[in-house]
Amino acid sequence: MMTYNEAYTYAAKILSIVLSGDIKDELKICFEEYLKIPTWRVTTYPDHRLSRDEASKLLDYLARRARREPWQYIVGKSYFMGLEFQVDKTVFIPRPETEDLVTYTYIMVRKFNFKSIWDVGTGCGAIAIALKRMLPDVAVYASDIISLRLARRNASNIGVKVHFKRGNLLDAFAELKVDTIASNPPYIPSTRYWDLPPEVLYEPRTSYDGGTDGLEVIKQLIPQTVSHLTPHGVLLIELDSTQSDRVLELAHQYYPHACILKDTFGKPRFLVTSKRDITLYPWETLRDRFMVGLS
Ligand SMILES: C[S@@+](CC[C@H](N)C(=O)[O-])C[C@H]1O[C@@H](n2cnc3c(N)ncnc32)[C@H](O)[C@@H]1O
Repeated sequence: MMTYNEAYTYAAKILSIVLSGDIKDELKICFEEYLKIPTWRVTTYPDHRLSRDEASKLLDYLARRARREPWQYIVGKSYFMGLEFQVDKTVFIPRPETEDLVTYTYIMVRKFNFKSIWDVGTGCGAIAIALKRMLPDVAVYASDIISLRLARRNASNIGVKVHFKRGNLLDAFAELKVDTIASNPPYIPSTRYWDLPPEVLYEPRTSYDGGTDGLEVIKQLIPQTVSHLTPHGVLLIELDSTQSDRVLELAHQYYPHACILKDTFGKPRFLVTSKRDITLYPWETLRDRFMVGLS
C-alpha cells in the first residue's frame, strides 16, 4: 500500500493535471475532509501506509474529480456563512456571492426592525438557515419547487426552526405576507447553459436555467411578490451582473423604488426593491462595515 507521502504526491500530480490553478485547497479537502487524514499526519508520518480502505477512497476521489464532479458532492458538504450544509446532486451548491445577499438582507431586517423573511428557491436551505441563525427572533419561511429533504435536515443539524414548504414560487405559502423576500433564483440564459464549467453541469439544471433570456423565473417572481410583502416590505433578488438594467426596469413596473447593489467583487449583483424608499441608505457601506465587524 502507498505511504502517506506517496499518496500525497500522487494526488497532487493527478489534481494538477485535471484542474487548473492552485490545488492546495483541493488536496486539503481530499485528505482532511474525505480521507479524514489531517495534513499534519502526512507531514509527521510520511512513511505511514494508507489502509486498503483509505487507498480505495483516494482513488475514488481522484477519479470523480478527474470527471470534474464538484468536491462538495464528493464529500457531501459545503460551507456557507461559516456554517456546514449537507449537499448532494439534488441541490445547488451555495456560492460565496450569495453571502452578500444574506448580509444585505440581515442589515435591512435589522434597520427596519422586520419580523419575517421568505427565502424563495431555498435549495439546501442556505439563505434561510443562515439568516435564522443570525436573527433568531425573526420568523423565517423557505420554499422550493424541489424536495426540501436536505434543507430540513440542515436546519435540524444547525439547530434552527425554519418553516419549509414545497411549491412553485410564491404558491408555496399562498396566504403568507412577509416583510422581506430574498431569493437567488435561476438566472442563466438557456443558450449559455452548456458553456458553464463542467462542475456546474453536475448541479440540477432547474437551479440555473432561467429560460431564453435568463429572466423567465425573475419575470414571474417580481409581480408575485407585490401581494406577499407587507406595505413597507423589501424584495432582494440575486442576478447575473449583465442583467441588472433589465431587472431594474422590470422592478420599476411594480415598485416605486428599486436599486442594484454590488457584490464584494464590485459587480452589480442584487436587485433591492420596495414601496419604501430604500435608495436613501448607503447599503454597500453598511455591508462593508458589517464585514469588518463594525455594526
Ligand atoms: C440558484 S439555486 C439557489 C439555491 C439556494 N437558495 C442558494 O442560494 O444556495 C435556485 C433555486 O431555485 C429553485 N427554483 C427554480 N425554479 C423554481 C420555482 N419555479 N419555484 C420555486 N423554486 C424554484 C431551484 O430548485 C433552486 O433550488
